[in-house]
Amino acid sequence: MTAPIAHFNGKLTPLDQISISPLDRGFIFGDGIYEVVPVYGGTMLRAREHFERLQRSCDEIRLQNPHTTDEWIRLSQELLKHHPGDQSIYIQVTRGAPKTRDHVMPKGLTPTVFMMCYPRVPPTREQVENGVACVTHRDFRWEKCNIKSTSLLGNVLARQVSADVGAVETILIRDGHVTEASASNVFVVKNGVVAAPPQDHLILLGITYELLVRLASEGKVKLEIRPITEAELRAADEVWLSSSTKEVLAVTTLDGKPVGNGKPGGAFRRMHALFQEHKAALKAKGAVAA
Ligand SMILES: Cc1ncc(COP(=O)(O)O)c(C=O)c1O
Repeated sequence: MTAPIAHFNGKLTPLDQISISPLDRGFIFGDGIYEVVPVYGGTMLRAREHFERLQRSCDEIRLQNPHTTDEWIRLSQELLKHHPGDQSIYIQVTRGAPKTRDHVMPKGLTPTVFMMCYPRVPPTREQVENGVACVTHRDFRWEKCNIKSTSLLGNVLARQVSADVGAVETILIRDGHVTEASASNVFVVKNGVVAAPPQDHLILLGITYELLVRLASEGKVKLEIRPITEAELRAADEVWLSSSTKEVLAVTTLDGKPVGNGKPGGAFRRMHALFQEHKAALKAKGAVAA
């Protein structure tokens, strides 16, 4: 079987022919940033927003973004010619490969650029209809969670806490408040009102989170952005996860106890329908990026 085509430093290259220096700062320090753009039938969902977040991540780590948003979109389109259908595009930029290992940021390095595609695996029908199980854990990550950094050890350790008990996500609590989950954002619903945690440095501002906020406003769903206490999480009628991979999913079990009545709630079903309508409209338009 031939290796899938990826993008490496300006060239389309079979994935198995790409080699990266062991001194690359992405390898040595996790000194890089990344993005994941969902693609539905060839159309990138919210590509511009993803590449604008990539710019913000670059700014936060003082890395010169090697491409403009338009260039990133064009590179993604080129790659997508080799990957039809529903895909996720993974984009990683590291600070590059210096000659020695030194924490100090070297001057004049050329960033390493890597992009690949893999088939999008949407949530199963079972997960959408019955919801998923999550556990909670103390948020032991750093204080710059707004950066989509490749240094994901904290998130990996957090995710494993749920994987170990067969759950889908680990919802994180910092100083008595819900931040996010290991690879998703979190929403809670009480008496029909949706709440989302503040868009600060303690969470990654999800592109899906932003889309849900917009869809809620257009769909006349009441949504507040404000701190959410752990007590509110545990007393919520509904809890949702959102991400480019999970879209929006209901959490129906938290730490082994049912959330609300243990079934995906009415607010979830409304938001899920709004999301599916948004996707269908996008596919119908047949645009390359929306
Ligand atoms: C820590 C974290 N929070 C939130 C998200 C959701 O972001 P998005 O909706 O842009 O996929 C992700 C996605 O990978 C993530 O890793």
